[in-house]
This record gives sequence, C-alpha cells and structure tokens, in this order.
Amino acid sequence: MTDAHRVVLAWDEGRVEALSVPADETVLEAAGRAGVALPVGCRTGACGTCTGRVLAGSVEHRRPPRALKGRHLAAGYALLCIAEPRADCRIRVGGVLSDLVENPWK
Ligand code: FES
Repeated sequence: MTDAHRVVLAWDEGRVEALSVPADETVLEAAGRAGVALPVGCRTGACGTCTGRVLAGSVEHRRPPRALKGRHLAAGYALLCIAEPRADCRIRVGGVLSDLVENPWK
C-alpha cells in the first residue's frame, strides 16, 4: 500500500482542486481519475505542455524531465505528466508554460 499525498491544484483565476495522489501515481493521472482537466500533450516529459509550478511540497519526476531546463527545475517548475508527489503539495496549474517562453517584445 502506497502512501497518498494531498495535492492542491491552484489556477491563477482562483479555482482550487484538492486531490489525493498515491506516491506512485503522477499528478496528471490523479487529476484524470478525479475528472480534473489539465493541459497535456506528449505525456512523456518532452513537450512542456503540462508544466506546473510547485509552490509548496515536493515532487519527483519518474523519468528525465526533458522539456525543462535546470533553472526551471530550480525555480520549482515540474512536468505534471511525469511528476509523482513526495509530500503534500500546492501546485500552480493552467497556463504555466507561458512563464518559460521568452517574450522577445518585453
Ligand atoms: S505532456 Fe508533454 S511534458 Fe508533460
């Protein structure tokens, strides 16, 4: 029996959903089980579509998070398609990927 962690998903617009996520399940899998839709693409850590930002707690990627650079990982960004919780977490979700894309007009 694997311990589950409480994972709170927070959208910028104020929506919040709480999930119970076993340590061997990804945040995306748990959200899907609960009927919570999150942005998703490749499901293998390659595209970055599912990027979230861990505001509290910790996650571990079950395979190399190829879509994120070291500085993104250091800043708390995570790929929710391959991220398993290692503690209770609060994670910013929604359009987080746009944080990582350089805006040439800024
Ligand atoms: S869906 Fe592509 S990196 Fe997660």
